[in-house]
Amino acid sequence: MNTQQYIEENKDRFLKELFDLLSQPSISADPKYSENVFQTAEMLKNNFKKIGLENTQLFQTKGFPIVYGEKMHNPNLPTILIYGHYDVQPPDPLDLWESEPFSPEIRNGKIYARGACDDKGQFFMHVKAVEAMIATNELPCNVKFMIEGEEEVGSENLETFVKKNRDLLHADIILISDTGIIANDTPSITTGLRGLSYVEVEITGPNRDLHSGLYGGAVANPINILCNMIASLHDEDNKITIPGFYDQVEVLSDSERDDLAKAPFNLDHYKKELDIDDVYGENGFSTMERNSIRPTLDVNGIWGGYTGEGAKTVIASKAYAKISMRLVPHQKSNNITNLFKKHFESIAPKGTKVKVTPHHGGEAYVSPINEKGYLAASKAMEETFGKKPIPVRSGGSIPIVALFESELKLKSILMGFGLDSDAIHSPNEHYGLFNFYKGIETIPLFFKYFSKET
Ligand code: BES
Ligand code: MN
Ligand code: MN
Repeated sequence: MNTQQYIEENKDRFLKELFDLLSQPSISADPKYSENVFQTAEMLKNNFKKIGLENTQLFQTKGFPIVYGEKMHNPNLPTILIYGHYDVQPPDPLDLWESEPFSPEIRNGKIYARGACDDKGQFFMHVKAVEAMIATNELPCNVKFMIEGEEEVGSENLETFVKKNRDLLHADIILISDTGIIANDTPSITTGLRGLSYVEVEITGPNRDLHSGLYGGAVANPINILCNMIASLHDEDNKITIPGFYDQVEVLSDSERDDLAKAPFNLDHYKKELDIDDVYGENGFSTMERNSIRPTLDVNGIWGGYTGEGAKTVIASKAYAKISMRLVPHQKSNNITNLFKKHFESIAPKGTKVKVTPHHGGEAYVSPINEKGYLAASKAMEETFGKKPIPVRSGGSIPIVALFESELKLKSILMGFGLDSDAIHSPNEHYGLFNFYKGIETIPLFFKYFSKET
């Protein structure tokens, strides 16, 4: 039996095993679920053992474990290191889910569950593809797995682990499925990720909540002030006003921009799918450029004051917001965080205090399209989709990828199979059965072509 026949025969079991993983609420952000996150790691390690990986281990960290396993059958062959994450985002708002987020279910050919696409359904394709290659004696190279449990909360402990385990992680390339394709009939490979700087801000006015009649008009209202300050962070061209923010931004040549514009994009479909009558963004750039090669600043949450039933007349003492900045190549996350802090503190008016607290961040990443890793992925996808994949820069972030490059000197190939419409991080996250099986079918071909061309 060959690899593809083995996959065909074991399809249903693969899906059943994925369902077991998806049934675990491995929510890294919420301490209530910490036991489930540990259990998920344990389940995964057992699966690694079952498929014949060796040296399977849970590397404990200050947070959640890193699940490791390898098959190093010939030192003369190249080694592919597979990265993914078994943690998921919190499922809320729960009432918007049509089925329970941790009771996976198939509807219209799609697997519905938190983590179905991001990233359990995607990294598990690699586990099953490798199982098939081992079982049929067709593994053409060595393989290592490193699946972490803290991607959704910043990968801090993986960073420490990578720095301490350079030898263990020695490889020729990193292969990751944690991104997407343009459409099921338009394959693409992600060649860039944005970096991230994330801060929380707090504005304090008076020392306590006040009667908005007795004090209104005479003291700074922290919510009004916060709104003004946030509004001032963009100018009339929708450029970010923080001094120095664009200084390091990579400027693409006209021909590079022309190349990017070749990826199919239909503005009418885009608007229709989101139910908006127009798009919005930085002047002088297309929608695709705005969400890939340009940096952004967005409020992710804002709160303060009275938000309960009815009306309460009050001036709150404090107002808060969480703000993310997506960064592009050459911008440095720490530097941008500092520029933000300095600027935000400088624009707070008298009568208020401002506090800026940095959260996790990370650097942008770009991968070349003329190296063997990319070429192997391109050939593999061309064979299974019947079309040559298009290189696309994504707007999302996987901060650890830039660290793999700086610490391990390894490029990552972002061969993901999700769709933008899979609702990752949103209610009703799903992953197509088509995509799950297409991934399992494509991965062994990557192994084959990468091993040949080394
Ligand atoms: N897998 C996503 C990132 C992604 C999705 C990149 C689709 C490209 C296409 C990852 O799990 C994620 O959600 N990353 C976070 C950053 C992290 C530090 C929380 C993000 O991009 O917001
Ligand atoms: Mn992910
Ligand atoms: Mn995610």
